[in-house]
Amino acid sequence: MNNDWIAPSILSADFARLGQEVDDVLSAGADIIHFDVMDNHYVPNLTFGAPICQALKNYGITAPIDVHLMVSPVDDLIQQFAAAGATYITFHPEASSHVDRSLQLIRSLGCKAGLVLNPATPLSVLDYTLPYVDMVLLMSVNPGYGGQSFIPHTLDKITQTRRRIQQVDAHIRLEVDGGIKVDNIAAIKHAGADTFVAGSAIFNQPDYAAVIAAMRKQLAC
Ligand code: DX5
Ligand code: ZN
Repeated sequence: MNNDWIAPSILSADFARLGQEVDDVLSAGADIIHFDVMDNHYVPNLTFGAPICQALKNYGITAPIDVHLMVSPVDDLIQQFAAAGATYITFHPEASSHVDRSLQLIRSLGCKAGLVLNPATPLSVLDYTLPYVDMVLLMSVNPGYGGQSFIPHTLDKITQTRRRIQQVDAHIRLEVDGGIKVDNIAAIKHAGADTFVAGSAIFNQPDYAAVIAAMRKQLAC
């Protein structure tokens, strides 16, 4: 399995000081920045577009950017975020008219590709796509908001997904997103995840280094 990555979601960051917030959370030990893109169409909320990703790159952020597209359609924004410096681009298969083509587009632009499965989305969406992704992102909340509670049945879905990844390519990352806290991250890892999105658990704390260190301690158990 891959080494563990902690991916703070900037949805819960102070948008008025976003560059500093990202700097701070990276200095505090985060591995990759999770970028929640919402269009108030695919999900009932609106966040930010590719110019904000570009602005962070211009600000000097060199860490990988993990773009989670909660938008429909997806292809235009795939192009924009690839041009703005995204590292990973993941999208919801329900939001694309041609999932295989959208995955190919991401890789053709030099980014790593991934699919996002909502809590009710079956693993069958991976049947003809798993060999063409670099990451599977399992939602442990319904997309649209930070600060929600982890949906418990996700643990079994993580284990089933890990089994499928092992059969295809162990290097595919298994990211989990939503409701991850210090007190549940160990169970999520033991179920089979290696990449952990945390928004409110990190940005709602005064000391980012302390909460990330606490998560790392749990991951080492
Ligand atoms: C929800 C987003 C998540 C969310 C995580 O639609 O995809 O990344 O920001 O926030 P927390 O960690 O607070 O549940
Ligand atoms: Zn997300």
